[in-house]
Amino acid sequence: MPLEYRLSSARSLALQIFGCTLVLLAAPFTFAQQTSSAKPPDDQEVRRRADALLKQMTLEEKVAQLSQMFDLPPQEPVEDAAAKGKLGSVLFVTDPARINHFQHLAMDHSRLHIPLIFGYDVIHGFRTIFPVPIAMAASWDPALVTKAQSIAAQEANAVGIKWAFAPMLDIARDPRWGRIVEGAGEDPYLGSAIAAAQVRGFQGDYIGSPDHILACMKHFAGYGAAQGGRDYDESYIPDTLLNNVYLPPFHAAVKAGVGSAMSAYMDLNDVPATGNRWLLHDVLREQWNFTGFVVSDANAVKSLATHGYAKDLSDAAKIALNAGVNMEMSLGPNAYSQNLLQLVQSGQVTAEQIEDAARPILEAKIRMGLFEHPYVDEAGAQQILAAPEHRTASRLAAERTAVLLRNEGSLLPLNKTAYKKIAVLGPIADSQLDTDGPWALEQDTKETVTLLAGIRGKLGSNAEVSYAPGVQIKRKFPSIFDPIFHFENPPAWTPEQAKDEISKAAGLASSSDLAILVLGEAQNMIGEAASSDSLDLPGREEELLEAVAATGKPIVLLLMNGRPLNIQWAARHVPAILEVWYPGTHGGNAVANLLFGDAVPGGKLPFTWPRHVGQVPMIYSHNTTQAPKDQAKRYWAEESTPLFPFGYGLSYSTFQFSNLKLSRGQIKSGETIDVTVDLENTGNSAADEVAQLYIHQQYGSTSRPVRELKGFERVSLAPHEKKTLHFPLGKDELTYWSSAKKAWVEEPSTFDIWLGPDSTATLHSTFTVTP
Ligand code: BGC
Repeated sequence: MPLEYRLSSARSLALQIFGCTLVLLAAPFTFAQQTSSAKPPDDQEVRRRADALLKQMTLEEKVAQLSQMFDLPPQEPVEDAAAKGKLGSVLFVTDPARINHFQHLAMDHSRLHIPLIFGYDVIHGFRTIFPVPIAMAASWDPALVTKAQSIAAQEANAVGIKWAFAPMLDIARDPRWGRIVEGAGEDPYLGSAIAAAQVRGFQGDYIGSPDHILACMKHFAGYGAAQGGRDYDESYIPDTLLNNVYLPPFHAAVKAGVGSAMSAYMDLNDVPATGNRWLLHDVLREQWNFTGFVVSDANAVKSLATHGYAKDLSDAAKIALNAGVNMEMSLGPNAYSQNLLQLVQSGQVTAEQIEDAARPILEAKIRMGLFEHPYVDEAGAQQILAAPEHRTASRLAAERTAVLLRNEGSLLPLNKTAYKKIAVLGPIADSQLDTDGPWALEQDTKETVTLLAGIRGKLGSNAEVSYAPGVQIKRKFPSIFDPIFHFENPPAWTPEQAKDEISKAAGLASSSDLAILVLGEAQNMIGEAASSDSLDLPGREEELLEAVAATGKPIVLLLMNGRPLNIQWAARHVPAILEVWYPGTHGGNAVANLLFGDAVPGGKLPFTWPRHVGQVPMIYSHNTTQAPKDQAKRYWAEESTPLFPFGYGLSYSTFQFSNLKLSRGQIKSGETIDVTVDLENTGNSAADEVAQLYIHQQYGSTSRPVRELKGFERVSLAPHEKKTLHFPLGKDELTYWSSAKKAWVEEPSTFDIWLGPDSTATLHSTFTVTP
């Protein structure tokens, strides 16, 4: 939410929005489970039921379905609206007793007993927190992503939440944008695979699968291209990038059957996404045949007036409805409920439009089984929320998401008995809140295993593990979620204290056999409304790093963050660097397993890692243009290359790609070739490698990127095991939107193809496509 919260007391917080202060009470909760349909509902039957209901509904009742309100104080308006049957959905309520309370208001007091649907930001877990989405993408493992989101769905469903405001599918190419952490990174192909995997995880085999919930792809569309990486700012995206880069993950989600979409906040090419009929109707419904419903982002309909697009709130309601927004999400009374009736009466909107907007919402409620099972079993959920297998799944996920960036002299994995004294250093090494990352709201933070705790737990009495924070991170500004965690900055150290703490940490490193430094950003420095003008390690972390390195002791650097940071110095001087992201509930255990060789890193970067903020945006799939790409030096003082390329990540083992073969060297447009490659684990530990296939179209109606990912597979191999991998390459992979022809084309051309461990893969071949 674009809302600014301020802490007011232990269980309550004041919410500042549009100049009004509201008080949010954090409710305690008990848990339960709800059931849905054991077999896919028949589409025609769903439609018939929705139409039958619509026939009985008054215009007011139809308008009510289009309205969604936050359960945030003052709560009278939302309660009142529910009791009067003026609401279709409530968001931000997680207490099953309160969910049932609202449902009773809707069911008992309204004429037609139409249930509410409860939505929530189930982003990377509910009670069990999984690694943040950018980390899940770094696993390059769609099956893992599906599993994680199905557990999140099961837990949310247990408390009565039937709808996740996820997956977030915004391609992010500018790491200054804090919401890069919520998505799958820079690449449309990887982003599409992760998008479909998430939809399958949330929704199961069909909408209404037992223990699953409705997914909501967001933020449709173009939000990740905000100017300057400033959250909420406008984006300008030419058709080539929209079609080839920003829209594909959304299209993949629609193909996977996503049931709802959220319209984005910002202007897209000067037309607000929430009032953009081309996006919400022409593309989404007409071109992609989306049959679900669209909800606006929070207050985004009312904001159409703020954008200078709608004249007033009535105009905003008319524009959004015409554009294709079915449901308005809002804090307090919304533009739809206040204006649509009048707009129909004055003939500016038709009754049929209202009915068309309400139908897919009713259909979703029917599919989710809400008419048959509107209430949640308050007593039954505890077991689901406490499931130990969910914690195990979260630990395994964290192990599979870590990316090994450097490992000079094979410092990692560490020998469990070789180091008797270990110094763990850094301000977030023992922070449970930061280990969970942003958009984690319903966990039991006390349960989270920090990196320090994980290392101590792993070593037991084998080693003495001491800790010093070394530096404080000044949290830039209060994040919108701070008050939920009652987060307060500790009193700032004086300059003398700050100096002493760095010396103390370095001293601890000196008197130890090994230093493990945990650096990165606090969880509220990234995410929504957390853009950054710098990629430098925050505060005095760099100073701490260099002071500890000066001791000459072996150092392992663990990075806890969700965007690439400036680690140029570390990349030259620190022998081992492991990206662990914000790893979630059992993050510390996962990281300890990785450090001491009980798990082997196999994750790969889902973004290009720039050297410096001045290089951004920087992507691997750029065009060649003018100078030959290998000699292109574009900056006076800085390289034009990234610090680490897209797709990069090391392992404790080594791999060999060989024998790249194409079933045919020439195909006709529309045909498919089979690409095969041998992948061998040439090292001594069982480990995973991600085989990545890149192509380049050498000529055509437009210039094409130097490389584009068009296939990948994460493969587990025993020591010295070899496998032959197959990748189909055909129309789907070769077709692109030509801005010259204004059409999707598969052009006759010669194509390069590379296979290997990252976007700099060298194993190469070519093939041609003829008309
Ligand atoms: C965010 C959405 C989120 C919504 C509800 C908005 O500010 O942009 O991603 O789902 O709030 O919390």
